[in-house]
Amino acid sequence: LPSAALIPAAGAGTRLRLGPKAFVEVGGRTLLARSVAALAPHVDEVVVALPAGWSLPAGLPARSIVGGATRQESVRLLLEATAAEVVLVHDAARPFLPARAVRALLEAVEEVGAATVALPVADTLVRSEGRNWREGVPREGLWAVQTPQGFRREVLTRAHGAAHEEGVTATDDAGLVARLGLPVALMPGDARLFKVTTPGDLALAQALAAVWDA
Ligand code: CTP
Ligand code: MG
Repeated sequence: LPSAALIPAAGAGTRLRLGPKAFVEVGGRTLLARSVAALAPHVDEVVVALPAGWSLPAGLPARSIVGGATRQESVRLLLEATAAEVVLVHDAARPFLPARAVRALLEAVEEVGAATVALPVADTLVRSEGRNWREGVPREGLWAVQTPQGFRREVLTRAHGAAHEEGVTATDDAGLVARLGLPVALMPGDARLFKVTTPGDLALAQALAAVWDA
């Protein structure tokens, strides 16, 4: 089936404070270039949502559209911009994407219709009251959800359509599918797939880039 990687990269990077995050470099390459390069070998086309006024750096095997006001809106626009029957959605802000994760995801999409990579939560979890510990939360059965996430086209179209109509927002796409009662497979994620969100994450990414590129 025709496939596409859809990369939301239209965010402002407010928390990182270095301008649109997709254009920030680690180890001499932008987060966007790293994400595109990791996905391009696995799909028929790559489409990127960029902030208005920005264009795709030369040489990337992708085309671009202008993103929306929220990540969810950017993904909805990306979906409208491709006719692919299988779509992988991946944050530009997660530049270290192992090929193994992409392959596992594509297999799960074929079987289940929707899938995401995720990691079992390893830390102790606690519910707070102000700055005080109120009660521990059992972490059994809890996962931290990453991207990429993969979908049969009609599944993601339906999920975004319903969310749009009902005014529901979510921080990821698999969540929009799951709320319709449709199955979403959890596939093994990777610690290196962390999202570059804060200056501390960027420092971690700089260190990892040296190892990743070696
Ligand atoms: N994104 C997008 N369109 C938006 C907002 C976010 O395509 N309107 C993308 C970002 O570019 C990023 C991914 O969604 O690749 C995850 O979002 P996040 O980490 O929150 O990035 P930013 O929104 O850029 O950062 P911040 O929230 O700190 O401003
Ligand atoms: Mg954001």
